[in-house]
Amino acid sequence: MDVVATPMPGNAPRPVLATEGLTKVYRMGEVDVHALRGVDFQLAEGEFVVLLGASGSGKSTLLNILGGLDVPTSGRVFYREQELTHADERALTRYRREHVGFVFQFYNLIPSLTARENVALVTDISPNPLAPEEALSLVGLGTRLDHFPSQLSGGEQQRVALARAIARRPDILLCDEPTGALDAKTGTAVLEVIARINRELGTTTAVITHNAPIAQMADRVVTLADGRIAGEHRNTEKKAPGELSW
Ligand SMILES: Nc1ncnc2c1ncn2[C@@H]1O[C@H](COP(=O)(O)OP(=O)(O)OP(=O)(O)O)[C@@H](O)[C@H]1O
Ligand SMILES: [Mg+2]
Repeated sequence: MDVVATPMPGNAPRPVLATEGLTKVYRMGEVDVHALRGVDFQLAEGEFVVLLGASGSGKSTLLNILGGLDVPTSGRVFYREQELTHADERALTRYRREHVGFVFQFYNLIPSLTARENVALVTDISPNPLAPEEALSLVGLGTRLDHFPSQLSGGEQQRVALARAIARRPDILLCDEPTGALDAKTGTAVLEVIARINRELGTTTAVITHNAPIAQMADRVVTLADGRIAGEHRNTEKKAPGELSW
């Protein structure tokens, strides 16, 4: 017998990612740190969401759970029809590998490998990748293929990290302070690439930032405070990164 997925009320499309009542408690000796205190969060197909919030408000914890790098203490996480909450390590690894691209504040490139080789490292184990050259062209580094990380600027290194993240054609891109180590001009170039990937490849995107003006480039802005969603708004008009000052 076929199993038919139950349609959502009003035939709303299912979100790509959804959490229900997500909590995360870190036990530090005798002290419990409540990093998330009941978060209901959704990412719609193709959406660009910016996550804001003070240091320690739970942004990275939420992003890491959404990306299958961490598991919640309670609550549920869904990737499309699939519940990730009780997935074992193997299933989470497959989920990360097939569906999620990560970009962090620090680029985590391998210094002894060129830009092309850093990207090839992930595309070699992927079923339907972009060619490393193609991924690097998409981030504007088609002429820097054989440069080593030490021969690239910070913004260029972050764009190599972005090329690596998108080369497996993930349907979700999760960025944790991608411009945190960059000056405004270099950061703008990185944000332009992230916006373009979202627009042209339709990659569902979430970006954590401390720079509130960056929120103006998102479809939707979600603010965390003390482990909870404290605010949310939709931008009526999205700005290009070049129009922002921060
Ligand atoms: N591995 C861990 N062990 C113990 N406590 C942790 C761990 N990771 C995070 N925390 C705590 O959980 C809370 C939320 O941390 P999280 O890293 O999600 O915050 P954040 O919003 O990303 O902050 P920042 O803007 O500084 O990166 C903080 O109080 C933090 O100290
Ligand atoms: Mg963080």
